[in-house]
Amino acid sequence: HPSLAVRRAALLPPPGAAGTPGAPGQPLPVESRPFASYGSALHIALPQPVRAGQLLTLEIDYEAGEGPGVCWLAPEQTAGKQKPYMYTQGQAVLNRSFFPGFDTPSVKCTYSATVKVPEGFTAVMSATSWEKQKDNTFVFKMSQPIPSYLIALAVGDIVSADVGPRSRVWAEPCLIEAAKKEYDGVIEEFLAVGEKLFGPYVWGRYDILFMPPSFPFGGMENPCLTFVTPCLLAGDRSLVDVIIHEISHSWFGNLVTNATWGEFWLNEGFTMYAQRRISTEVYGLAYTCLEAATGRALLRQHMDNTGEDHPLNKLRVVIEPGFSLFLGVNPDDTYNETPYEKGYCFVSYLAHLVGDQSKFDAFLQAYVNRFKFQSITADDALGFFLEYFPELKEKGVDSIPGFEFDRWLNTPGWPPYLPDLSPGEQLMKPADELAELWAADGLNMEAIEAVDITAWRTYQLVYFLDQVLQKSPLPEGNVERLSKMYPKISKAQNAELRLRWCQIVLKNNLEAEYSKVKDFLHSQGKQKYTLPLYRAMWGGSESARALAVETFSATAPQLHVNVQNYVKKILGLEVAE
Ligand code: BES
Ligand code: ZN
Repeated sequence: HPSLAVRRAALLPPPGAAGTPGAPGQPLPVESRPFASYGSALHIALPQPVRAGQLLTLEIDYEAGEGPGVCWLAPEQTAGKQKPYMYTQGQAVLNRSFFPGFDTPSVKCTYSATVKVPEGFTAVMSATSWEKQKDNTFVFKMSQPIPSYLIALAVGDIVSADVGPRSRVWAEPCLIEAAKKEYDGVIEEFLAVGEKLFGPYVWGRYDILFMPPSFPFGGMENPCLTFVTPCLLAGDRSLVDVIIHEISHSWFGNLVTNATWGEFWLNEGFTMYAQRRISTEVYGLAYTCLEAATGRALLRQHMDNTGEDHPLNKLRVVIEPGFSLFLGVNPDDTYNETPYEKGYCFVSYLAHLVGDQSKFDAFLQAYVNRFKFQSITADDALGFFLEYFPELKEKGVDSIPGFEFDRWLNTPGWPPYLPDLSPGEQLMKPADELAELWAADGLNMEAIEAVDITAWRTYQLVYFLDQVLQKSPLPEGNVERLSKMYPKISKAQNAELRLRWCQIVLKNNLEAEYSKVKDFLHSQGKQKYTLPLYRAMWGGSESARALAVETFSATAPQLHVNVQNYVKKILGLEVAE
């Protein structure tokens, strides 16, 4: 990455060779050659040709820190507002600004790191073991081979608390009580169910780090130590699906990895399926179908925004490096709902072809076992599926007209098969009906007041609000009344509810509640919350556009640089390379 300064490369003598141990090695010529707008190729000339399989030790001295993978936060950007904070975010192609290496998911390796931090700070990494030594020095070791994007570091004023036999939460001191309360005693069950379904959990510990509010994702599955947004601290475990999702990556993504970012759905589609299998075992089918229905609504919104035919709405995306001015797709720009929810539909379709849940569960376990610690393509995965179920292969299930595997992978658009979510009907129907009532011209207040939403789960409210959003703008005056009637919604602290409420405020141009949009965008920087709101503001009235400009100029410095750039694109501002 252009921000990484390579100072020197040297070839070290093979272990056990004659000479002084720790000698500086033989300096080698280093050259950076063009590759893509998001990184270049580091060429190191070896003194003589090497044989395939020969082991070499290269030492590379470099300085890093100014690139997009390494985030530096001022004290005001943390929860405690006392001390600075730093963290890295590697996925998809940002770790090349953290260290030089083979920054592709097709290569896996172990790693170790020695990290020295200032007094009063703690370092954590995605590592199987760690040790604090003297002089504020931490030594980490990841003993399983992982792709480069899963190497992660965070340093800050952080402390930990146990929440299970192999799990603890990490957070700034002012958040640690809330963090412990949110997940005390629940993590182990998810891990145990995951192991029952998909096989051994190979990573030793499963810890969770609560990040500062500008962390751009809900969760990031760094092995042994998931990074999560502090928005998950809802007080009622209602957003625990994110944790189940990241735990599911322990098998799908972290053990069996997509070999290229063009087949990101192998990570996320299988993980969504695994997440919902664990959720079904723990919370039941009805609740899980409700959660899946909110996922389907996100896919609908995404495809409506981009157009179904958009090339990113294929499971297999063409990624060409390309240089800034040429076409070429940066893998980080392909992050959207399609690999998640269309991928989920495809895996559900495979399960539907098998027709028996326990047989399909056994297949998933065999798949993990077959490909663990490897990086694979969709062809590998689907080839194994047909090999595992020879009777399906015989029947030619890969080429049923309209449902060809090739069509799933290479044709953009709405999934040809949708799993049946009707077991969630009992939870969705009341929400559907209530949304109908609120969308009507003359409000039937009697019917509305007869519905008691006080006992509704967060995802029922989310589902209801998605329906209201879909029907928006509502007839004049309805949203104001809805807002007054349900303070539980319009004054919610839960981030998923706040997102939907802000979207409704904007779609109905309810200027009286613009401050809620502003407050929400000031309080956190998650990409999936931030971009839809800026899109809605920019597509709205003059005053909504003014709100966008005002909010962005105040919050830009605290957003992750990628998120900053995506917002700039929405607002038609110049993006620096
Ligand atoms: N691995 C992703 C986050 C990610 C994707 C980071 C692409 C960088 C590039 C993570 O597992 C994820 O999917 N998080 C979701 C959770 C949700 C689907 C439950 C998120 O952050 O919203
Ligand atoms: Zn994921």
